[in-house]
Amino acid sequence: MIKAMLALGSLLFGGLMVSVGDTRAEEQTSLSAEQGDLVESLLLQMTLAEKVGQLNQAAGGRSKNLNSKLTPEEYDRVRAGGVGSYLHVAGAEPLRELQRIAVEESRLRIPLLFAMDVVHGYRTIFPVPLAIAASWEPEQWETTARISAREAASSGLHWTFAPMVDITRDPRWGRVVEGSGEDPYLGSIMAAAQVHGYQGQDLAAGDTVMATTKHFGAYGAPIGGRDYGSADISQRSLHETYLPPFYAAMAAGTGGYMTAFNDIAGRPTTANADLINGTLRGTWGFDGMIVSDWNAIAELMNHGIARTRSDAGALAISAGIDMDMMSLVYADDLSAAVTRDPALLTHLDNAVRNVLKAKQKLGLFDNPFIYHDAAKEAVTLRAQDHLDAARQVAVRSIVMLKNDNAILPLGGKAKRISVIGSLATDTQSQLGSWRARGDKAEVVSLLDGIKSGAGKGAVVDYAAGIDPDNPNALQEAVELARNSDIIVLVTGEDYDLSGEARSRSDVSLPQEQQILTDAILAVDRPVIVALTGGRPLAISNIAEKADAILMTWFLGNEAGSALADVLFGKSAPGGKLPISFPHTTGQVPYSYSEYPSGRPADPDPTKDTNRYSDLPITPLYPFGHGLSYGDIKISNLVLSAQTVDSSTPLTISVTLINNGKIAGDETVQLYLRDRVASIAQPQKMLRGFKRLSLKPKEKRTVSFTLTSDQLAFYAPDGKWRSEAGAFDAMVGSSAENIVLTSEFELTETVESKVPASAIATKVAVK
Ligand code: BGC
Repeated sequence: MIKAMLALGSLLFGGLMVSVGDTRAEEQTSLSAEQGDLVESLLLQMTLAEKVGQLNQAAGGRSKNLNSKLTPEEYDRVRAGGVGSYLHVAGAEPLRELQRIAVEESRLRIPLLFAMDVVHGYRTIFPVPLAIAASWEPEQWETTARISAREAASSGLHWTFAPMVDITRDPRWGRVVEGSGEDPYLGSIMAAAQVHGYQGQDLAAGDTVMATTKHFGAYGAPIGGRDYGSADISQRSLHETYLPPFYAAMAAGTGGYMTAFNDIAGRPTTANADLINGTLRGTWGFDGMIVSDWNAIAELMNHGIARTRSDAGALAISAGIDMDMMSLVYADDLSAAVTRDPALLTHLDNAVRNVLKAKQKLGLFDNPFIYHDAAKEAVTLRAQDHLDAARQVAVRSIVMLKNDNAILPLGGKAKRISVIGSLATDTQSQLGSWRARGDKAEVVSLLDGIKSGAGKGAVVDYAAGIDPDNPNALQEAVELARNSDIIVLVTGEDYDLSGEARSRSDVSLPQEQQILTDAILAVDRPVIVALTGGRPLAISNIAEKADAILMTWFLGNEAGSALADVLFGKSAPGGKLPISFPHTTGQVPYSYSEYPSGRPADPDPTKDTNRYSDLPITPLYPFGHGLSYGDIKISNLVLSAQTVDSSTPLTISVTLINNGKIAGDETVQLYLRDRVASIAQPQKMLRGFKRLSLKPKEKRTVSFTLTSDQLAFYAPDGKWRSEAGAFDAMVGSSAENIVLTSEFELTETVESKVPASAIATKVAVK
């Protein structure tokens, strides 16, 4: 039917086209029609206005005002072909009507694309991304993304602005909560898992959504951690640290990318042709769709590289940005630029092609209404198995930072438990920074979870400790704590302290939380701290005085149930930090993977070495740190050979055994170091990990198989190269707790094409 319509369309309107005036284009029309190439046929029929219309992504309203902008005037804009996509819209029924107008009442009947930030859940909300990264289990991301896609697609959406894969080493940056932390290898594994989860096997299946890997560039490296700020970084760190997860997402098939708001050394990514058309589309071979960030094309004027809106549009379209999120520069000002400079038409056509192809991959030309079944939506949102998964993912995301004298799990030990801290009832915070259509009324609070998990014999009391309407709140909390057997103190940040435009200059606790925390830690009772937050926090007082600490981030719908599962021993905690926790804000930015100094840091502060004189040389809790129940030992490091070359991979294996009395988890981590190379190499680079759950006495052998490409670095000539020489293989339970080391040799120098951290190590468990 569509093909017939297109043929008719070309007959009726062919002569009126702005862009098909020349004979070459007309030849192409018949060629394309013969080949039945829908996208090319459409392109040849489109007016300039319809082309820019396809590149225009309009906003349907944000959060509570979802769909609020879908007015009669907006419907007319769709009829006129002025919009290609909407973001911040939702609902099978409302969007069906909008889609109907597009495919029945617009001239070329091109379907619309509906998008939203479905980042860690749609209606069922999962833990925030940094928390899921802490599971060190890509399976958790795959499940989360799969369910999110199923829910979002049932609600009329085709497209999510996720995964967010920005690496950051600066916890001051508010958006640290949205990514996978500091490490490009962990980040790459998590990026690929999300793409697989969102997109499934078939983008046209009707229960999958197209992924947008964001924010392409170096958004996670703004100076001082201030959101939107310039990333003045080297090409080496761009390619070795920030870009690998973007590559991994492409290898996993991401349908789209979103570019970063900020600039790299003065070049805003929104207009960076070398990075978008050069690296991403050229060197890497990406052939999908690229969207700008919100209003970012217009903001090229603020960056000081465009004088007018039409200049900004020309820069963005030439750089390779297909769709303009919200700024209306393409819609309103690109035609003028094209008239001035007809060479832009090629870029414009490419952009339209990419948008139409995305619609095609999603099956929208064949069945534009497949995403609009309200009955399916009703049974899909918050289905019981989604909630069960949310609880499971939340359990896996919790990181036990400390557990003195094995005070946890509580089991039947505690009779009177006092839960202290207003964050224990703050259900809004558990939804985290992006909550799509999550509803705080549907969240199990930490307090409610503890109450239902505590068991019959226990008494659970609560005091907020912080209450603007009650001047005695703190005193009452201290009293309650004194009269209990054990204290669960819920402290940290609330959701509004991390996320976009939420950078902080100080990553310690907010003042009122600190006052409450210090007062409770001074009570002579065992204190278990459940720490909430969306970033690494500087918590030295807690680290020193609490008996146990659980990093609970923001855990989503099933937050309280998951915390209770861990507290009372139904499940073992086993998350690991995906980013270092500093002693103080002054210790950031920090990474375990820095280059070695000529004067390496020495614990002795009287020596002149690479350190702060007033802090230990390692962070408070290092990358990869996290405890569990049980007592798991790592032993028996075996290498398949002492040498490796481009044709023979190397297998590194270790054995884990649980010598404890209860089940526990360990995530065994493999780090490498290239000892001597033509340019200095990081002190450690993560190149493999595996989380295992072991029953008492259970024993497992984990093998990591690496290739020589995974030893490469980004050389000054812009090539990936692994240099012959000696390497250390280090295995441990965190970046600072290496228990076994061995040496091997790469016997030849090898050039490769792929960012080394983006290559997944093969892992086998026996
Ligand atoms: C954010 C993006 C997001 C977009 C649409 C922007 O402000 O930077 O991550 O996808 O808004 O909501």
